Amino acid sequence: MKANIKKIAVLTSGGDAPGMNAAVRAVVRSSVYYNLDVYGIYKGYDGLINGDIEQLQVRSVSNILSRGGTFLLSARSDEFRTKEGRAKAYKNFKANDLDALVVIGGDGSFTGADVFSQEYDVPVLGIPGTIDNDLAGTDFTIGYDTACNTATEAIDKIRDTASSHERLFFVEVMGRDAGFIAVNSGISGGAVAMLLPEHNWGIDDLIRRLQRGASSEKASNIVIVAEGCKLGSAYDIAAKVKTQLDYFDIRVTVLGHLQRGGSPTTSDRVLASRLGVAAVEGLLNGQSNVMVGVVNSNVVYTPINEAVKTIKKIDAEEFRIAKILSI
Ligand code: F6P
Repeated sequence: MKANIKKIAVLTSGGDAPGMNAAVRAVVRSSVYYNLDVYGIYKGYDGLINGDIEQLQVRSVSNILSRGGTFLLSARSDEFRTKEGRAKAYKNFKANDLDALVVIGGDGSFTGADVFSQEYDVPVLGIPGTIDNDLAGTDFTIGYDTACNTATEAIDKIRDTASSHERLFFVEVMGRDAGFIAVNSGISGGAVAMLLPEHNWGIDDLIRRLQRGASSEKASNIVIVAEGCKLGSAYDIAAKVKTQLDYFDIRVTVLGHLQRGGSPTTSDRVLASRLGVAAVEGLLNGQSNVMVGVVNSNVVYTPINEAVKTIKKIDAEEFRIAKILSI
């Protein structure tokens, strides 16, 4: 082990994601395994600014593996975006004799981590925890698989009622500016179309698909709308479609925050466990200002700014398959 690290702190930041608890558990237990002291920071960066920090032990993280949310609590800290806020955070970091910081979160949290690490030369290691799956440097982020499963389950239920009434549903899923949840849940839920932020299509293709389905007696239609879709919200798009295809009985469902909750899937628990251990081992091996991810089944470390700035692309092959199957 290269780096002289004795005390590690861990926080969860930004939108919570199922599997964050599993990641905290892995950071705590692997730290103890390597004879390090480990501290939990509550409420994300706000906790670092306000000194809301306590030492965690092996048993502090018992029975959290299966729980959604984050027992460390989370926040989107406005104060940490300011120089003054980060100065207070560093004061507490030093006052607690901390040597390194593990940040579990998404792109906003990592942008803050990157600035903090450079301003104060603090070793920071990021673990990707967001349902959006929008970080480069990892095939999957913690929480994404669970969110997709939740969305699929909801779409299946909507399908039951949509078929019974021969209706057209627009289902809006989360993902901020990325369409990963939309594509995945769209394929698994048999959607007729997925409208993504990544595509600049007009509404014509959707209209054609719906007309084609109607002419071949398609009983129910589900269109997935990613929240960042440039055509507007699910409600906006439903209204536009209604003006052109008035024979459809249309309903809209916005899945919203239910996609953020629930017990993490096996995949998310395993990913979180793997990344938590790799984060601690990375710090001990001298990694700093990087995000740990899994690419093609291998653990990789990517500079944090690269993970945030590189736009992760939707798999074109997945999208092609979806188009073939939704005729
Ligand atoms: O980043 C996770 C996410 O759930 C996005 O998909 C969504 O756009 C956003 O957070 C919602 O944020 P909030 O919980 O602050 O409303």
